[in-house]
Amino acid sequence: MCEQNIFDNDTFFRGYKELRKDDANYNIQLEQPAMSKLLPDAAGKFVLDLGCGYGCNCLDFIKRGAEGVIGIDISEKMLEIAAAESSDDRIQYIRMSMTDISKLNQKFDLVYSSLAFHYAENFDKLAKDIYMLLNESGYLLFSQEHPLTTATFGGLQHYNKDSDGHYTSYTFSNYGQPGERITSWFVDGVRKYHRRFSDIITSLCRAGFIIDTVCEPIPEQSADEKVPNIFIKEQIKPTFLIVKAKKA
Ligand SMILES: C[S@@+](CC[C@H](N)C(=O)[O-])C[C@H]1O[C@@H](n2cnc3c(N)ncnc32)[C@H](O)[C@@H]1O
Repeated sequence: MCEQNIFDNDTFFRGYKELRKDDANYNIQLEQPAMSKLLPDAAGKFVLDLGCGYGCNCLDFIKRGAEGVIGIDISEKMLEIAAAESSDDRIQYIRMSMTDISKLNQKFDLVYSSLAFHYAENFDKLAKDIYMLLNESGYLLFSQEHPLTTATFGGLQHYNKDSDGHYTSYTFSNYGQPGERITSWFVDGVRKYHRRFSDIITSLCRAGFIIDTVCEPIPEQSADEKVPNIFIKEQIKPTFLIVKAKKA
């Protein structure tokens, strides 16, 4: 099946840009702080960022002393912003799909990916390709939508409230049916892939990785000031899954 490049859809892109324009979002309040805590030392290292988007993380690696960074993304619009706002002589942005990374003829000390792997259909292959691109003792650090978030067909999951309006539980289904999920996010027809937690960990182990850390982040309670109810909602059901793994 041909790969989807939804971030180049005008309506989607406008919606996504709006979402990211200030810090009242899940990326800033929840995902990025958790990823930062798990980052290996980047000083003197070569880093590959898969689905780099705006390139903010590529620039951050340079600020942390990285020797060189390659950011790849399937979206022309995202890479235009990366080039305009996050450029540096030591960063190279390449328009490329994650499915083609075996064509890169360079090795890396860190492969990083923030919230892009749920767009990849074949995680077995992706894990193997990443393993081949890493130097000995190199790290993979990635975040993705949590399997409890991706599970339900049609994105029809929801939080439930009690009679006082307090969040109490989360309803989902189809967890045991890995595969394509078509959801609505700014536009209809957004294609993502659901994998069970066990599928993700097994793919990484079979590729040769040693799992260092698995994280299902919960924000500080103060994050509620920016994103109302994020604290209680994340205690009911994690939005993101973060894994740090090492090349054996
Ligand atoms: C939610 S955004 C995250 C962007 C960036 N990592 C960040 O955290 O700000 C997901 C990114 O993955 C990219 N993407 C989706 N499918 C891709 C694929 N098959 N290959 C490369 N990039 C892809 C999208 O274009 C988008 O820029």
